[in-house]
Amino acid sequence: MVLRSVVAGCGSYLPERIVTNEELARKVDTSHDWIVQRTGIHSRHIAADGEMTSDLAVAAAQDALQHAGISADDLDMIVLATATPDETFPSTATSVQASLGMTRGAAFDVQAVCSGFVYATNVADNFIRLGQANNVLVIGAETFSRILDWKDRSTCVLFGDGAGAIILQGQEGAGDSADRGILSNCLHSDGQHHDLLYVDGGPSSTQSVGFLRMEGPEVFKHAVRNLASVVGEALDAAGLTPSDISWLVPHQANQRIISTTARKLKMSEEKIVMTVDHHANTSAASIPLALTEAVRDGRVSGGDVVVLEAMGGGFTWGASVIRW
Ligand code: ACO
Repeated sequence: MVLRSVVAGCGSYLPERIVTNEELARKVDTSHDWIVQRTGIHSRHIAADGEMTSDLAVAAAQDALQHAGISADDLDMIVLATATPDETFPSTATSVQASLGMTRGAAFDVQAVCSGFVYATNVADNFIRLGQANNVLVIGAETFSRILDWKDRSTCVLFGDGAGAIILQGQEGAGDSADRGILSNCLHSDGQHHDLLYVDGGPSSTQSVGFLRMEGPEVFKHAVRNLASVVGEALDAAGLTPSDISWLVPHQANQRIISTTARKLKMSEEKIVMTVDHHANTSAASIPLALTEAVRDGRVSGGDVVVLEAMGGGFTWGASVIRW
């Protein structure tokens, strides 16, 4: 018998307000054509005034719980990935725990920026396989609109707000069913690249929130190099090759990064779940948002090999291989 973390359900939430490229072009010196050509983004959702990361996370969590057919009472743990917490402390995960009416178990945040969801998935998987938790709610939730410099056209057009969640459940299987669930995870970071992508504020440095700062072309180069390599590494650990991938669900930063990564893996673009056009980059939320879309519309189904991959500030990067 093999104990594996199986995805028992997934859910998502996007703020109501949609901001198009045309609307942004009325505020900063940019154009719909420039944004589409360089990034593939057409529109993004932006949280309403007073709508916080935890609000988005709770809505996505409720959707995932319903999809899995379980209640908050069944949860042993919440792992929430975010770089835009409601407050410096306590964790946004504990606010979500309270809103869900869950009073037992443990809840905490994980911070790996755009790689946060892959990191949180790996953390939850380890808790499950060690027998310390059985039902874990893994959330990626962000309100990046709050840390954007809306006068900087090179960054403000790239991001959006949203939340996605999965329920990971420990299941013991034998034979064919032993192959279901998370097969491998690989995580990396290299703190030397701090200055290429960071927020210029924080409680211990400036006592302010700060704005996102990025050397876009440099981030682009690192992303395509690291993503193809970490996907290869995670597949290797699972005894698979790129030709075994049914669906690649990448972090949705930029269509060109995703396409270049797929080319390096010699994968057809038809096997990629792409949502960057209507979500933009929602950091830790982008993978569970895309995954939920592909599960709910029937693209991802039983037996599929699904690969998640992401890279973000730090730099951090990682991948997970899941058999559905
Ligand atoms: N509208 C119009 N022009 C713009 C805009 C804009 N919104 N932003 C920048 N420009 C201009 C620049 O000023 C520059 O003008 P110049 O040539 O007169 O100096 C020109 O466009 C080219 O700028 P570059 O930065 O070289 O453009 P590039 O082709 O590299 O595209 C982009 C920029 C889209 C940011 C790209 O570098 C990129 O996608 N990088 C990856 C960054 C990313 O996705 N980060 C997300 C977080 S990390 C992650 O999730 C992986």
